[in-house]
This record gives sequence, structure tokens and C-alpha cells, in this order.
Amino acid sequence: MPPVMALPAGARSFEELFARRPAILAPMEDVSDDVYRALCRTVGAELCVTEFVNVEGLLRGCRKARHKITLLPSDRPTAIQIYGADPERLAEAATVAERAEPAYIDINCGCWVPKIARRGAGAGWLRDPDAMVAMAKMVVERVSLPVTVKTRIGYGPESHMPIVELARRLEDAGVRALTVHCRTAKMGHSGAADWSWAGRARAVVSMPVVVNGDVNSAADAARALAETGCSGVMVGRRAIDHPWIFREIRALLDHGVELPEPTVEERLDLCRALLRARVDERGETRGVTCSRRHLGGFIKGLAGASALRRELFDCPTLAGCLEILDRAALRIAA
Ligand SMILES: Cc1cc2nc3c(=O)[nH]c(=O)nc-3n(C[C@H](O)[C@H](O)[C@H](O)COP(=O)(O)O)c2cc1C
Repeated sequence: MPPVMALPAGARSFEELFARRPAILAPMEDVSDDVYRALCRTVGAELCVTEFVNVEGLLRGCRKARHKITLLPSDRPTAIQIYGADPERLAEAATVAERAEPAYIDINCGCWVPKIARRGAGAGWLRDPDAMVAMAKMVVERVSLPVTVKTRIGYGPESHMPIVELARRLEDAGVRALTVHCRTAKMGHSGAADWSWAGRARAVVSMPVVVNGDVNSAADAARALAETGCSGVMVGRRAIDHPWIFREIRALLDHGVELPEPTVEERLDLCRALLRARVDERGETRGVTCSRRHLGGFIKGLAGASALRRELFDCPTLAGCLEILDRAALRIAA
């Protein structure tokens, strides 16, 4: 039996988190940090997962890991994701993460990056399902918060994907929800995600299963949920360019409404908000530079977008970028 959960005061219960089929911001290293989670929440992200946190870094008390697990009161509900290759260290790190009062603890069993998977962490766990289940059980038994797993359909190229049997065994081990990135580890991010595997896994368990991979629009989300019967969708790369996808999904799922594209003002305002928040956090030079990853996507579709993108990418200062955005607003309105 899973242990009694102890959710932080004021937090929604674990079951409630999945009751209305949430659109979840995926854990993405160097993307879904506190700043980006806050920004995504302003456009409808209901539930977020932190970037993955290395258990060794966390247990050593390294600054980066500690920062990753620090959750502001406004940054909830957010789950903390941990990764590592040693069950004992994962369990210990989960107890540290638990003190930050996340909505739940997620274990990364899906990272395909060779330097991680080869060491047995991330998707490396898929090469030994017995070990993965035993590890998950150990983590579940060590903490009182719900524990979830995010993994892939298999390591690749198996003739029969292990995810279905794994889902059942992970649930038996006390895991409370499963996110399935519907590719094998060998596929990395290439090839189409096959949502049918999330559906097959969902069919053999009663815990929530979240479908992930290639959910790039509200219509995709609705189709993925309809085809799989899953309890939620997780959005990764599309949220980098188009975080409005979260409110678009909500509107379609709840009201059958296809929202119009974000307005010019909304697009430019989100650029401003991101730039300001990043500069506050990282200082001007790094803050402006690292915002560029998103700005091109935010302004996509605007009249003169490619010239605007070039101007923004050439500008090293916050004031300069804000001026460029103001000029663009006037030009587009004229
Ligand atoms: C830049 C980047 C960083 C990622 N970092 C993580 C991570 O820290 N933990 C994790 O479980 N998955 C990570 N992923 C995988 C995503 O969470 C997601 O499973 C994958 O991108 C498929 O979803 P999508 O098609 O919506 O992008 C990352 C993906 C990207 C593109």
C-alpha cells in the first residue's frame, strides 16, 4: 500500500491535481525553472514539474540543486523531479526534496542523453525493469509525499515495449502516477511519439497516466486524451515557443472552444515579462541572452517577425529590447 500522503497545507490533494485532466508543463532542463514556470502559469499552466535535479548535487547541497528545489508559495502546484542511478541515493534525495513541499516527487526514468542513461540513471533504468521497480518502491517507502515516475515506452528497439507491464508493476510498488513519453530512449526526440502506448499502459492501472510527446496544440491534447483515456497531457517543446498552449488546451477541453491566436499585445507583453524576469534573476547580459531562446517563438506570426527577431537578437540590453518591442507595437498598430 502507498504510504499516507502529507500534502502541504493549502495544496490541492493529489487526486484533485489529476481530476480535470491537467495540461502539465514538462520538466525541461534549462527551460522549466522558477521563472519560466511562473510565466507559463500566467497563460494557463496548471501543474508544473521542475527541471531534473541530480541527486548527488542535491545531497552534496550544491547551490544549483538547492535552487532548483526551492519553490515559492506562488509556484504551486509544482512537482520536483529527481534523477540518479543509485536507489539508496535517490531515496535519500527524495527526503530532501520532500522538505521543499512539492506537490509530489517525480523520478526521471526517461532521460536518453548518453552520459546520463549509460550510467544507469534516466532512461538507463529501462534496461533493467526489475531494478527500476525495486528503486521506485524504495523511494515510495522513504517519503510521505506521493511518488510518480516519468519514463519512455522502452529503451529501444524492443519487439514488445515494456511500458505496459512496467506500469502495472510500478503501481504495485506504490507509484501514484506515471508519465509516458511515447518514444523509446533510442529515439531521443526524433520520430513520431506513439500515444497508443500510453493508452495501453493506462488500461492496466488505476493510477493517473499522463501522455507526453508531440502534444503541440490544443487539438493534439484533446486527441491524445480521447485516444488514450489518460488523466492529463504533458507539454514540452511547444511550450518553449508558445506557452499559450496551456490556456488553449484548457478552453478546448473544458468548453469546446478553440481560442484565437494570442494578440500582438499579448505576444509583446510576454516578451517584456520574460526579459524583465530573466534580467532580474541573472543580470542584464545573461538575462537578455537566455531570453532569446523564447523570443523568436513568442513573436512568430507577427507582421515583420523575422526583422524584429534579428533586432532583438542583436540587442544586448534590457532597455534596448524593450524599446524595440515598443517600436514594434507602434509599427504593427499603424
Ligand atoms: C530542452 C529539454 C530539456 C528536457 N529536460 C528534461 C528533464 O529535465 N526531465 C525530463 O523528464 N524530461 C526532460 N525533457 C523531455 C521533456 O520533458 C519531454 O518528455 C519531451 O520533450 C517530449 O515532449 P514534447 O514532445 O512535448 O517536447 C527535456 C526536453 C527538452 C526539449
